[in-house]
Amino acid sequence: MRKLDVLIIGAGAAGLMCAIEAAKRGRRVLVIDHARKPAEKIRISGGGRCNFTNLHCSPANFLSQNPRFHISALKRYTQQDFLTLVEKHRIPWHEKTLGQLFCNDSAQNIIDMLLTELSDAGGKIQLETSVISIDKPDDQFKVVTNHEDIQTHSLVIATGGPSIPKMGATGFGYEIANRFGIGVIPTRAALVPLTFSDANKDLCKRLAGVSVDAIVSFGKTSFQEGLLFTHRGLSGPSILQISSYWQEGKPITVNLSPSQDAFQAFKAARIATPKQDLKTALGQLLPNRLADELSKEYKLVGRLADLSDKILKKAGDAINSWQLTPVGTEGNRTAEVTIGGIDTKELSSKTLEANKVPGLYFIGEVVDVTGHLGGFNFQWAWASGHAAGQAV
Ligand code: FDA
Repeated sequence: MRKLDVLIIGAGAAGLMCAIEAAKRGRRVLVIDHARKPAEKIRISGGGRCNFTNLHCSPANFLSQNPRFHISALKRYTQQDFLTLVEKHRIPWHEKTLGQLFCNDSAQNIIDMLLTELSDAGGKIQLETSVISIDKPDDQFKVVTNHEDIQTHSLVIATGGPSIPKMGATGFGYEIANRFGIGVIPTRAALVPLTFSDANKDLCKRLAGVSVDAIVSFGKTSFQEGLLFTHRGLSGPSILQISSYWQEGKPITVNLSPSQDAFQAFKAARIATPKQDLKTALGQLLPNRLADELSKEYKLVGRLADLSDKILKKAGDAINSWQLTPVGTEGNRTAEVTIGGIDTKELSSKTLEANKVPGLYFIGEVVDVTGHLGGFNFQWAWASGHAAGQAV
């Protein structure tokens, strides 16, 4: 029987950060993962360059049933702390937009940095290791893996959410929670493209590849970023962001021309160029392909001089407040994260330890804390991993 102070299941962003911090404190630490390589989601993140944090990270960038839960961990390990670590390892980085920090070269730089920190601190990692059973017969945990039996004082669940199953993602963390009677907030895919089944699906298909800057809203929540038409529906940062808020059966509103009031622009054009066709006027606000398709779809045609305010208002609304109801999302196959997870009521916000089960910790994406797009999810992984790493 191998004896440990800390066993961490999941060698992703949160698990590795927790392992580093615990090992630095002199704890005997092992991280296990069933995958062949560690931190696969870091490797593919940010288009291969890892958007590792965000300069403007604040608690408002996260969704959770308890919007105050994540404040403590994020305060104690900030975006600046992670940036200091990146700079210590001389990893070249840049700010892309909206405070999003990326590696200049490769996300592998971040993985190598974490593995170097772990081995320097004396922590160990073992891959291709699956958990067969977990028990807590006394004040310690007994974990049986496909390699050995392990006895540990602290057990940290850092197995992430079920998005991108082909990368090794599972719902393992929720099973462990159930096993110990710990509540789980229902989960669903987030930061994910939206799909359509009606005429809008065909419209999106015809426009596949077209992108615009847009404001996408659901209820009182709005994001202004890029929007991309795809063969199945809508994607791009603004759509991924709103997918975390969207509720089934309800419409989203898209402003395809955020800097212009289209109705006012058409009225002005009717005075300046009365012979102009509405379709041409649309083309002055939108990419030509998009203007063409919207004009066909909503019959936005005719000489401006012949069109009433009512018709121009309808055309303006099609651009500035286009309402459309998604039928669903692309699901876990492509989602960047999972909304929901371990109920934060069950955890200490300071240490991430389960209230009911001393010694059991949940960190990272498996917890019901989900960040906006832009480096926030990794910042939560670093911060929650760091918080538990100080306590285990
Ligand atoms: P993570 O998923 O990273 O790690 C969990 C680990 O547990 C994995 O190594 C897995 O193999 C292992 N595991 C799972 N089940 C197991 C089991 N039963 N037994 C043993 N091991 C098990 N975020 C961001 O801030 N910036 C970005 O640029 C991106 N980009 C991005 C792109 C794509 C395509 C995706 C899918 C996601 C992102 N994200 C992101 C989100 C980010 O990747 C995510 O929030 C973090 O990786 C979560 O870190 P965790 O450590 O919690 O889980």
